[in-house]
Amino acid sequence: MNDQAAKLRKRIEQLKAYRQAKTIAVISGKGGVGKSNFALNFSLTLSKNQHKVLLFDLDIGMGNVDILLGLTPKYSIVDMFDKQLSIDDVVEIAPNNLSYIAAGSGLNEIFSIDEAKFEYFLKQLNDLIHSYDYIVFDMGAGVTQQSIYFMLAADECIIVTTPEPTSLTDAYAMIKHVTHKNNQLPLFLLVNRAINQKNGQQTMQRLQQVVNKFLARDLAPLGILPDDHTVMKAVTSQTPFTLYDPHAHITRAMNQIVDQYITNTINVNKKVPFTFINKLKQFIKER
Ligand SMILES: Nc1ncnc2c1ncn2[C@@H]1O[C@H](COP(=O)(O)OP(=O)(O)OP(=O)(O)O)[C@@H](O)[C@H]1O
Ligand SMILES: [Mg+2]
Repeated sequence: MNDQAAKLRKRIEQLKAYRQAKTIAVISGKGGVGKSNFALNFSLTLSKNQHKVLLFDLDIGMGNVDILLGLTPKYSIVDMFDKQLSIDDVVEIAPNNLSYIAAGSGLNEIFSIDEAKFEYFLKQLNDLIHSYDYIVFDMGAGVTQQSIYFMLAADECIIVTTPEPTSLTDAYAMIKHVTHKNNQLPLFLLVNRAINQKNGQQTMQRLQQVVNKFLARDLAPLGILPDDHTVMKAVTSQTPFTLYDPHAHITRAMNQIVDQYITNTINVNKKVPFTFINKLKQFIKER
């Protein structure tokens, strides 16, 4: 019996070693376009679909996912360094069994720390890669010298824009910047706050065409989320909108986006193991 239990444990360990999270960075050019609300509710919906998901707030100095969740996290990623904790200690459990790491303040320091600390950070991240199916990074708006490493190291980026010309222009500038650094990085486009389906589709097509014409690359359509009062009400009550109103227009749109995302990416197997960690290591060493 003991022998069997040991075998089973070994098998579980082996399976865990094979599991490799897909890393997704949620980015935007302009601020306030809905990245955090999208990242949180996308992660919650993936979680609800039995995937093991970690949402990592990387909005340096401005992280606010805990406010959207109505949670007061015990620790943030900054404490991992200051208090010598393991990354498991700083993971909070949110609804739908979603794991969550708060940004804390002074987070930018973790990127300019000494090499030994950075190695420690990478080792902790490596453990995470084996423990989750998806790791979603909620990034700050625009690009900072530090956040670019995470975007480029991620398996894919989701760029969020609204139909407003200012948001679109900034989204284009962001895509251009990222493309100059790596034109192979898979980019998905999420149009948020569409007034109606036509407005959303036009926005999507316009940006796809410009990117295709001037940057010679594809922008995969992730989906369209409507402008919906539910978001403001949900933010005010500090409850993610998908939980605040499971029947709202925007919640149904999110369910559809996640269903499609899972169906379209399920068969895509990554060939090179640990690419995220390796890439991050390389960027930091080269800077
Ligand atoms: N689909 C939507 N419908 C209506 N209002 C929305 C929608 N998405 C976002 N908002 C509004 O925009 C505000 C900002 O959203 P959010 O904090 O998610 O943006 P952000 O891109 O993460 O901002 P930052 O760049 O500051 O991190 C929300 O508090 C909400 O009022
Ligand atoms: Mg945000």
